[in-house]
Amino acid sequence: MRPKITIIGAGFVGSTSAHWIASKELGDVVLLDIVEGVPQGKGLDLLEAGPIEGFDVHITGTNDYADTANSDIVVVTSGAPRKPGMSREDLIKINADITRDCITKSVALSPNATIIMVNNPLDTMAYLAKQVSGLPKNRVLGQAGVLDSARYRTFIAMEAGVSVEDVQATLMGGHGDEMVPLPRFTTIGGIPVTEFIAQDRLDAIIQRTRKGGGEIVNLLKTGSAYYAPSAATVQMVEAIIRDKKRVLPCAAYLEGEYGLNDIYFGVPVVLGANGVEKIIELSLTDAEMAEVKQSAEAVGGSIETLKKL
Ligand code: LAC
Repeated sequence: MRPKITIIGAGFVGSTSAHWIASKELGDVVLLDIVEGVPQGKGLDLLEAGPIEGFDVHITGTNDYADTANSDIVVVTSGAPRKPGMSREDLIKINADITRDCITKSVALSPNATIIMVNNPLDTMAYLAKQVSGLPKNRVLGQAGVLDSARYRTFIAMEAGVSVEDVQATLMGGHGDEMVPLPRFTTIGGIPVTEFIAQDRLDAIIQRTRKGGGEIVNLLKTGSAYYAPSAATVQMVEAIIRDKKRVLPCAAYLEGEYGLNDIYFGVPVVLGANGVEKIIELSLTDAEMAEVKQSAEAVGGSIETLKKL
């Protein structure tokens, strides 16, 4: 049997994720949305690309959760995107209601699934998904670190004039403007990034990375990014489906790691068939730790807001 991957939300992030999952033949895709016709239309359109692109998976577009039963992975992309001038936090009420609904319905039918949260505010929605689903912490995670570090790697490659393939980097923290890119753990072809890029330019790249989502929102004006967010999501899907043990930054539930408790937060993890198989605890400098704390305070505040809703 092929793996079954449900994507909830057939907007830009959901349908682009379906596109990449199909083209990589990671499994059969169920694309679900509340809007009638849209998931069916996008699903059929994508299926009809199969003979041309040579991918051989089923793609089902639906409004009915029954079609999602026994999924191996459930990706939640549904929710409102940001408009210019909005922060991710402005989405908390509407997206919390949507998240509660789709997690309850999908987990009832796919009790063994691993859930990847993609909607915003990301870390808070992952927290809510764990709470509502009752699933173990290794099976509920959030995408963001892969996206944020991809933006950081892109800007580094542009500045250094080298291939993005050779830029390795990690980044910690919540998916907000306080996220913590880590130059000490950033290399180009195994060489420290500081051998290529001066400190002031690196600082500017870090600032641009922190506001990377907003940069796209301001350009698009009617919505937020979707190519890089969906590519990041699908890299995580692939790591789980193929049990790759990838080392990727993801939003994971912390119980004491980095001195943080009862919070979803971006940390490097080992991602495989069992979801978050390990949280990697880096030894951080005092300055790095201070930035992590600041980001954790922002995420903690958002989780407090959620609890009061
Ligand atoms: C971003 C939004 C989707 O970072 O959170 O692009």
